[in-house]
Amino acid sequence: MGLTGTDIEAAAACLERGELVGIPTETVYGLAANALNEKAVAGIFEAKNRPHFDPLIVHISGMDQVPAYARVFPETARKLAEALWPGPLTLILPKQTNIPDLVTSGQDTVGLRVPAHPLTRALLSRLDFPLAAPSANPFGYVSPTTAAHVNAQLGHKVCYVLDGGPCEVGVESTIVGFEGESPVILRLGGIPVEIIAAIAGPVKESISAGSNPQAPGQLDSHYSPGCSLVIGADPSLLANMKGPVALIRFSEVMEGFPAEHQFILTPSGKLEEAAARLFGTLRLLDERGYQSALAEPAPETGLGRAINDRLRRAAAR
Ligand code: TXA
Ligand code: MG
Repeated sequence: MGLTGTDIEAAAACLERGELVGIPTETVYGLAANALNEKAVAGIFEAKNRPHFDPLIVHISGMDQVPAYARVFPETARKLAEALWPGPLTLILPKQTNIPDLVTSGQDTVGLRVPAHPLTRALLSRLDFPLAAPSANPFGYVSPTTAAHVNAQLGHKVCYVLDGGPCEVGVESTIVGFEGESPVILRLGGIPVEIIAAIAGPVKESISAGSNPQAPGQLDSHYSPGCSLVIGADPSLLANMKGPVALIRFSEVMEGFPAEHQFILTPSGKLEEAAARLFGTLRLLDERGYQSALAEPAPETGLGRAINDRLRRAAAR
């Protein structure tokens, strides 16, 4: 296991040597390396067992860094960045030549994001390079939302894990590409589509296709927990499920099912709280040895769409 703590200098020293560091962000923990060092980036793909056709997000310290890594910064993208950075928004923009092809899977675009977590912001300002970082989980598994999650699966492959506590948002960033000035949502995430539309005007969505090479994070079977998941609220669905069975409930207990096997995402009915607890709950079900789980979907609005998107992918295995 690598060292874990809050020592930014220790994390920076690892990254400067081209090694990997687990970093906290407001969405999920990332597995970071120097984005401009192709060898260091190759280490990310190796550690995650990630296919090379799946591009990485590049994390920068602020909006002023965009021109260094992107050739074009459409006005609508600029507006979104001004309103929502630092935060769970990734912008897909035409890349500069300094971004290695490995980072972008050979595409002419790069995903840029300014994360909001104070420790990672301090780290980024301390470094003179940006950080390529996918979620810090083995390819295909649920994203980590604590330093302990990172250590449990990838601890032996990192030089250091920067421990920033549990992630506040809990689902990955919303990814937005552009057709000229028009925004296209490529992945649902921590910023609801309604908010993107309020800032940037009408948005297109290009989210569903299972094998869309534009955004491989959309592959079905991403975010898969070990137990098999069924989505629905109807107790009759339990009839065909293999035990031991757990229930993931949005906010209320289901009558007539043992309470100790029910996991309530948000007793107070708040989408933010449900999102923050979702991945930790999926991991907990695996730890407790459940064979299957019936998950009640969230209301299909705001952050609820990202929650349901992750549930559907977790169920699609
Ligand atoms: O919240 C997040 O975005 C987290 C934290 C660590 O920042 N990161 C994250 O990374 O979720 P990852 O690798 O698990 O998902 C990144 C996804 C890729 O799978 C791909 O769908 C999309 O971002 N992506 C990256 N670069 C792209 C590009 N140039 N064009 C289209 N999609 C891209
Ligand atoms: Mg991921």
